[in-house]
Amino acid sequence: MQRKTTALIVAAGKGERAGGGVPKQFRRIGGKAVLAHAYDALRAHGAIGEIVVVIGGGQEEAALEALAGREVMLLAGGATRQQSVRNGLEHLAASVPSHVLIHDAARPFLPPDVIDRLLTALETSSGAIPALPVADTLVRGGDALGEPVDRQGLFRVQTPQAFVFDAILAAHRGWDSAREATDDAGVLKAAGHDVILVEGDRMLEKLTTPGDFDVMHRLFAPSDIRTGMGYDVHRLEEGEELWLCGVKVPHSHGLAGHSDADVALHALVDALLGALAEGDIGTHFPPSDMQWKGAASSRFVEHARDRVAARGGVIRHVDLTIICEAPKIGPHRPVMRAHVAALLAIAEDRVSIKATTTERLGFTGRREGIAAQAIATVALPALD
Ligand code: CTP
Ligand code: MG
Repeated sequence: MQRKTTALIVAAGKGERAGGGVPKQFRRIGGKAVLAHAYDALRAHGAIGEIVVVIGGGQEEAALEALAGREVMLLAGGATRQQSVRNGLEHLAASVPSHVLIHDAARPFLPPDVIDRLLTALETSSGAIPALPVADTLVRGGDALGEPVDRQGLFRVQTPQAFVFDAILAAHRGWDSAREATDDAGVLKAAGHDVILVEGDRMLEKLTTPGDFDVMHRLFAPSDIRTGMGYDVHRLEEGEELWLCGVKVPHSHGLAGHSDADVALHALVDALLGALAEGDIGTHFPPSDMQWKGAASSRFVEHARDRVAARGGVIRHVDLTIICEAPKIGPHRPVMRAHVAALLAIAEDRVSIKATTTERLGFTGRREGIAAQAIATVALPALD
C-alpha cells in the first residue's frame, strides 16, 4: 500500500491541569505511557506512514523512554499547541505528505474506525474532524444556576483532525499568530475551507484533569487478561541459515521453511494471535502467498503486535521455550531477549526465553528439527 498519510502527534504540553508531577503524556495507563498508546494506535492503522511527535524543551528523555522500541521522529514544539502544530507542519513541508492527521498525545485511545471515517471524508473535503453531540443539559452557571443553553446542534470536537496537507499548511501560515486558535479545523475554516464532521468516539476523550486519569485507570484496572499459546516445528537441514528469535545463530544446520523459518518467532506470533483469538500465523500470512517466501519473521511479529495495539491492548509478558539438542541457546539468550523486547516494544523484563533438550529422545533429540513453544499474556481494555 502507498503510505502518504502522515500523523503528527502534539505532545509538547506541560499538562498543568492534570497534575501528577510528570506531564500527562508521559504518565502510564495500563503499564504503557499515554503517548505510546496514541502512537501505537496510529501505527497500527495501515493507511498511516510516517509518525512525527512534537515535544517540549527538556522532554526528550521522557519521550524516548515512553516510546522505547518504536521508530521515533521527535521535533521541538512551541509555547502553545498551535505553535507546536505549526512546527510539525513546517517540518513535514519537506516531505510533502498528501494528508496529515493532527492528534493530541493526551487522547491515548484512538479506535481505528475513527481514522477510517476521517480518511473517507477527506476524499471529498480538505478537512475532517471527529465530533460527538453534546448529551448533557447545558446551562450558564457561576455560583448559581443561570440560563439554559440549547444543545441542539452543539458538538464536542476531538482529535485526530485530518487534512489535505497543503491546505492546512497554507492555513496555518496565513493565520494571524496574535490570535489563539482553538483547534486546527478552526484554522482551516478561517482560510475559507469546509470541514466535515465525522462521528467521534467516547474513548477519544482528552485527559485533562486528575479525574480523567482516575476514569481511565478504572477502565484499565480490571483489564481483560488474555493468554495465548503457540507451538511450531521446523526441519533442520544442511545449507540453511538458522534464525531463532530474530537472531542468526551459527550452526552446522539451519531450519527449512517458507519464510526464514524462525520457529521461535512463529510460536510467538501464534501465542499473540491466540490471546486475541484472531486465528493463527497461517490465517494472516498464508504459505501459499509468494510474498512471504524468505520473509523475515520479525514482520509477522510486528503484525501481531500491531493487532494487539489495534484492539487497545497491551502485551504484558511473553515466555518462549526453544526445544533442541543443539546449538546451545544460552550464549545467545541476552541478544535474543533484547531483540524480542524491541520487536514487541516492551521492557526486557517482560520477555522470557528458555531452552531445553529432550534427552536425545524424539525428533528434536535426533536433531531432525527444532520445536518452540510460546505463551503470551495480553491485557485488553475491559469494556464489557
Ligand atoms: N500541546 C503541545 N504544545 C503546547 C501545548 C500543548 O504540543 N505548547 C499538546 C499537549 O501535549 C496535548 C495537546 O496539545 O497533547 C492538547 O493540549 P492540552 O490538553 O491543553 O495539554 P497541556 O497543555 O499539556 O495541558 P495543560 O493545558 O493542562 O497544561
Ligand atoms: Mg494546554
